[in-house]
Amino acid sequence: MRRNRRDAWSRALTAENTLSAADLIWPVFVIEGDGITVPVDSMPGVVRYPINRLTDAVGEAKDLGIPAIALFPLVLSERKDEDGTEATNPDNLVCRAIAAIKNAHPDIGVICDVALDPYTSHGQDGLVREGYVANDETLDILAKQSLVQARAGCDVIAPSDMMDGRVGIIRDALDKDGFQHVRILAYAAKYASAFYGPFRDAVGSSSSLKGNKRTYQMDPANGDEAIREVALDIEEGADMVMVKPGMPYLDIVRRVKETFGVPTYAYQVSGEYAMMQAAAQNGWLDGPRVMMESLIAFKRAGADGVLSYYAVEAAKRLKAG
Ligand code: PBG
Repeated sequence: MRRNRRDAWSRALTAENTLSAADLIWPVFVIEGDGITVPVDSMPGVVRYPINRLTDAVGEAKDLGIPAIALFPLVLSERKDEDGTEATNPDNLVCRAIAAIKNAHPDIGVICDVALDPYTSHGQDGLVREGYVANDETLDILAKQSLVQARAGCDVIAPSDMMDGRVGIIRDALDKDGFQHVRILAYAAKYASAFYGPFRDAVGSSSSLKGNKRTYQMDPANGDEAIREVALDIEEGADMVMVKPGMPYLDIVRRVKETFGVPTYAYQVSGEYAMMQAAAQNGWLDGPRVMMESLIAFKRAGADGVLSYYAVEAAKRLKAG
């Protein structure tokens, strides 16, 4: 076995998987104002961008060959309410950010979450009725949220709410409104994970979150159920599917890709990024090397691409060879 590992050229020739900038989706946080960027304390190296800074940052990602970004807004607390009505405001932060990006860089793909958690005072992804996140009533507002985002220029709607039946409802709404070309990337197998902690800090939903999300996000104990979730989303019209979190769920990525053969993505979430960065900052791990190793692992597992907070840094490293 060691003959092929002996030289760099034979290692290159026998490598089974490759990572390129085209495999990366960059999740970006956007804030109000037109001033300075604001760091996310629990995600060293990640900042939230005001719109005027965001467009340049996205331009840099595009120039590095990153095909798409995923936008996440930090909504002012005075704009949040019980029913997350700000989600359907056509002039909300995320819609303004989409328009600014598409205006400055029409060639990069813009992906937007559909879920109510950035907008609700209780931090849940849906409408809370008698202490329970109501499924069907939430679907209407998710469809409206999808439409305002599509009208603002969003290329890919990414439902991350985990309500049953939302992909079909959103597909219908988009088609009826003339958005047949807008794609759906379903957060199909999304687990009720503790690895989302730093993200909830970044979008300001952690302090307000009441309870947990276990009545709609998946139980980490389950694998077969992920296959059923993905099957439903494909049947309802998803163009691409996602597994989330990433590294602890690579077995699910492999099963989904082998079972369905559809474009399959994985989200290396905030907590995965935070733990690698924390160890690197302490000098306990070699940061750049674990970054690259973690990303190639997604490719080896069968993912077509990875959402990662490392996207820009990794693309720079790839470019430098
Ligand atoms: C919103 C959403 C979450 C993430 C992406 N979209 C948080 C959650 O479901 O609570 C997490 C991303 C990350 O941790 O990086 N529904």
